[in-house]
Amino acid sequence: MKPLEIQSVIETPSLRLRPPHLNDAGRLAKLLNDFEVARMTTSIPHPYGIEDAERFVCDATPETFVVEHMDHGPIGTVGFSEGEGRRAELGYWIGKPYWGSGYATEAARGAMGWAKSVWNRRHVAARHFVDNPASGEVLCKSGFLYTGQVTPSISKARNQIVPSRWMVWLA
Ligand SMILES: CC(C)(COP(=O)(O)OP(=O)(O)OC[C@H]1O[C@@H](n2cnc3c(N)ncnc32)[C@H](O)[C@@H]1OP(=O)(O)O)[C@@H](O)C(=O)NCCC(=O)NCCS
Repeated sequence: MKPLEIQSVIETPSLRLRPPHLNDAGRLAKLLNDFEVARMTTSIPHPYGIEDAERFVCDATPETFVVEHMDHGPIGTVGFSEGEGRRAELGYWIGKPYWGSGYATEAARGAMGWAKSVWNRRHVAARHFVDNPASGEVLCKSGFLYTGQVTPSISKARNQIVPSRWMVWLA
């Protein structure tokens, strides 16, 4: 992916998406050490400790954001990784106490607006496990469409291969 020289901060009605700091690690580890969250991701192990969160912060690229709620503080993360063929892939999670309030959709929409207008991406991929329809809803509401492709992906936390539905967003 084309590297960015400065990282942006993305403001949405109730969230601020900003670079992760080392002093976020305790909070992120607390929210992420939850099998219900980790099991729906490809790369988050379970259990998840403070060292994992510190590594996440240190390895963060300029396309990685902490999702900070104006009242609750950090509630999750959203970001882009480099997938096959150097295409950008969107990923996110929200801590369980904050599910069901529209925050993932708000964060994903904010991130996609940034990807289009600041990062100049014209297409972004995303995938969700077949047993994670809530994430499919978030992606549909953020402008992604199903490609019809279903491929096996690893869930590190489950230590299992799970089929994933692929989606695409076009600017
Ligand atoms: C998936 C996740 C990000 C959703 O976060 P959230 O803040 O609760 O999401 P939102 O409130 O913005 O939207 C969730 C939508 O899914 C819907 N939904 C929830 N459970 C559902 C289910 N079992 N089947 C279908 N839709 C469901 C909700 O009704 C909501 O849609 P609506 O607003 O139209 O009613 C969160 O549950 C999470 O972090 N899960 C674990 C990690 C993960 O799945 N990351 C994404 C990997 S692809």
